[in-house]
This record gives sequence, structure tokens and C-alpha cells, in this order.
Amino acid sequence: MIDVRKPSPHEGKLLVLTPGMGAVATTFIAGVESVRRGLAKPFGSITQLQTIRLGRRSDNRQPLIRELLDLAPLSDLGFAGWDPIADDAFEAARRAEVLSRDHLDPLADFLHGIKPMPAAFDREYVKRLDGPNVKKAKNKKELAEGLRQDIRDSIVREGASRAVMVWCGSTEIHLTPAACHQSIEAFEAGMLANDPGISPSQLYAYAAIKEGIPYANGAPNLSADFPAFERLALEHGVPLCGKDFKTGQTLMKTMLAPGFKARMLGIAGWFSTNILGNRDGEILDDPDSFRAKEVTKSGVLDSILEPHLYPDLYKDLYHKVRINYYPPRGDAKEGWDNIDIFGWLGYPMQIKVDFLCRDSILAAPLVLDLALLLDLSKRAGRSGVQEWLSFFFKSPHVAGGHVAEHDLFIQHFRLKNTLRVLAGEEPITHLSENFAEF
Ligand SMILES: NC(=O)c1ccc[n+]([C@@H]2O[C@H](COP(=O)([O-])OP(=O)(O)OC[C@H]3O[C@@H](n4cnc5c(N)ncnc54)[C@H](O)[C@@H]3O)[C@@H](O)[C@H]2O)c1
Repeated sequence: MIDVRKPSPHEGKLLVLTPGMGAVATTFIAGVESVRRGLAKPFGSITQLQTIRLGRRSDNRQPLIRELLDLAPLSDLGFAGWDPIADDAFEAARRAEVLSRDHLDPLADFLHGIKPMPAAFDREYVKRLDGPNVKKAKNKKELAEGLRQDIRDSIVREGASRAVMVWCGSTEIHLTPAACHQSIEAFEAGMLANDPGISPSQLYAYAAIKEGIPYANGAPNLSADFPAFERLALEHGVPLCGKDFKTGQTLMKTMLAPGFKARMLGIAGWFSTNILGNRDGEILDDPDSFRAKEVTKSGVLDSILEPHLYPDLYKDLYHKVRINYYPPRGDAKEGWDNIDIFGWLGYPMQIKVDFLCRDSILAAPLVLDLALLLDLSKRAGRSGVQEWLSFFFKSPHVAGGHVAEHDLFIQHFRLKNTLRVLAGEEPITHLSENFAEF
């Protein structure tokens, strides 16, 4: 038995804070409220629907994850967020056009009540966006302090006992860790000096960690994945994870690629292209924001296929990813993959995937699962980077120079074993019980 601290019991209300109240955040909030009212089911959420086997197969113990681990129930969730666009959650959800009026209208009273707080926003970091609902401050430190005050105020306003934060804001421009990201002192000095390496999403992450609130980054930009915040999170006892929700084409890729590799089938090329017409697509039409997305999408295959171990199979793989902004599609993205594989003696074969996908429908349950599991982590006294939550991300945040695991099935295995251990149960190896006898 692995000895870990048992999570403290869930008590009171858990506030889910979302910087960004666009398509993903409002689909998540409206979805939770629909489920609470018995109007819909939480498909796609493992915390709501998945069971977990405990002990031997013959023991017949398969509780729901949420029951085994005393996760916060949906009835105890509250919501608050920030956005430079002043629309309340109902207007924002209507504009996003993800959920139909049939789903939204019955929730109008509830959704109108969730109004975004003024955002820490700067067009330098999201070029194709503007809005009036923004904070004014003389430097980035003052903005971060404003966010900290918002967090404290909204916890009181909502009568919550604790909070988690999930970044659902737009994709910011591509930044790489600089001197200001190497230590807490350098970051704090950088905020005072308005260092251009410090983006708004980093200010939200800083505010969350300083307030002792777990933070997840749902977008591909640099937000908390650097040494200063990894250290700050450990010092404040805060769990961190990221980045970029694993939905759509990358979800498919991390399901298919492990299968080809398991069967030792080679891959000569993988061409992925997609069209999408929501605001996220418009923002990704800016080359700087696209670069952030391109980086998180491209690393996936190399990490799963390990061409250094299997050069004959994967060394020459040509991998290309394209994202095209195409307004008529709105949130109903279409992603095509052409995969050129080869088998026995090198004979070529082709696979075509055409995924008519709904981005925010795939992302919303991830926001819910991350909020509940980060809260669980915090209650179990875990802090720093939570690699076991890699399952939810395109580009998992790992600390200490480790290599990220992208294979969805290994990620899932690890997630479930972590949950077993947190519940005081044995991890499962899937070896047969009488293995040693033969
Ligand atoms: N939809 C998906 O399947 C999916 C998958 C992976 C990642 N993501 C990422 O999730 C994020 C949200 O996606 P979306 O479809 O909801 O986009 P969206 O454009 O509908 O919503 C993003 C919202 O963030 C707001 N925003 C921008 N900068 C902000 C700031 N500094 N503070 C507060 N709010 C800010 C925008 O005004 C907008 O309302 C994007 O970064 C996207 O790349 C989405």
C-alpha cells in the first residue's frame, strides 16, 4: 500500500473561477446547471460518469469515481469569471452558438446572474480581440493585486469555502520562458517593470497561486509552466496543471498513434487540417497565437512514437498541422487527417479520418473534471505540477525536465491509479492474480 495523505472531506461550496467567459466557459457553466436541473446528462465527464475497479476482478467493486473520492457534487459548485467583453454568461453563450436556445432559454435567469469581472487584458497578447471591461493599473503588479482582490471578493460573495481557477481565455501569443520566469523575485520585479514577457494569463496564475488556489491552463500559451511558478506553487501548497485542453484532432491523434505503435506499424506521414469558425478560430488566425497552438499540437506524435527507439518506423514521419479560420462553421469544427502508414515488408496503406466535431462540447466536461480533481488534489495536500492530470491536455505540463507522456491510454492508466492511491486503495497492474504460480 502506498502511504499518502487522505483528502480532507469536501465541505461547503467550491467556486470555479474562469478567466475568459467565452464558448468553453459558458458551455461548461450552462452544462452544469442543465445537469443540476435534470435537463441533460454530463456525457464526456469522467468525474460524473466513470467507475473505477478496486481490488481483484472477482471482488466486484466498481464504485463511481466521484463517490469513491468524495468529489464536490455539482450542487455545491459556484461560478465567477473575468472577460474584457462585458456580456453576462447568457449573452456570451448565445453569441458563442454552441448550445441551442432549447438548452439556454430555461437557464436564462441563472446565466444572466453571472457577469464577468473586469479583466486583466492587453491587446498586445491577443491581437484580434478588444473589449471595454478591463482593469486599469499603472503596472502588471497592480493588475495582479486587483485579481487577487477579485478572488477574495468573489469567494465571499458566493459564500464559497474554497476555489479553483481554470484559464478559459483566448490563446495568447507564443512566448518562451525568459529571465523573468526563472525565479519568483525576477517575476515580481518584472511585473513592476511591465516586462513584456509577462502576459495577462500569467497574472491570473500568479494571483491564484498567491491566494492558495489551484490553477489549470486550458490554452496553449505560456501561463504557469515555468520555474518561478512551479516553485511558487510548492511554497503556497497549490496544485498546478496544463496545458491546452485535449479535444478534437489531438484527442484522435493520441488515441490512434498508440495503437499503430503497439502493432509496430510504421507511419510515413500524418497530415492534419481543420476548419473552424468560432472566435477561438479567429484569434488563431493571427500567426503569433497560431504559433502557440502549433507548438502544443506538434509535439504529440514524436513523444508517443519515440522515433529514437524505432527509427525504421517513425524517423522519416512527415507531420503537418493546419488550422484554417472559416466563419460559416462556427464552433462546429471539421478536422481531416490523412495518415500514410506502412506494414509488413513496407507495403503502404492509408487511413482518412473526418471528424465533424464540436470543440466546446468536448472541452466543457474537461473544465468540470479539472476543477473537481484539482480541488481533490489540494484537499489531499498535493502541490506543484500534477502530472497525473496529463490525460486532459494536449501539451502536459511536467516539471523537473521530465518528458511529457502523450499516450491517452497510459495517461488514463496513471490517472486511475492515482485516484486509487488517493482513496487508500492498491494500484492495479493488470497482471493476473496467479501470475507468480506459472
Ligand atoms: N474549444 C476547445 O475545444 C478548446 C480546446 C483546447 C483549447 N482551447 C482553448 O480554450 C480557450 C477558450 O476557448 P473558447 O472557444 O472558449 O474561446 P472564446 O474566444 O469563445 O473565449 C475566450 C474568451 O476569453 C476572453 N479573454 C481573452 N483574454 C482575456 C483575459 N486576459 N482575461 C479574461 N478573459 C479574456 C475573450 O474575450 C473570450 O470571451 C482558448 O484559448 C482555446 O484555444 C479550446
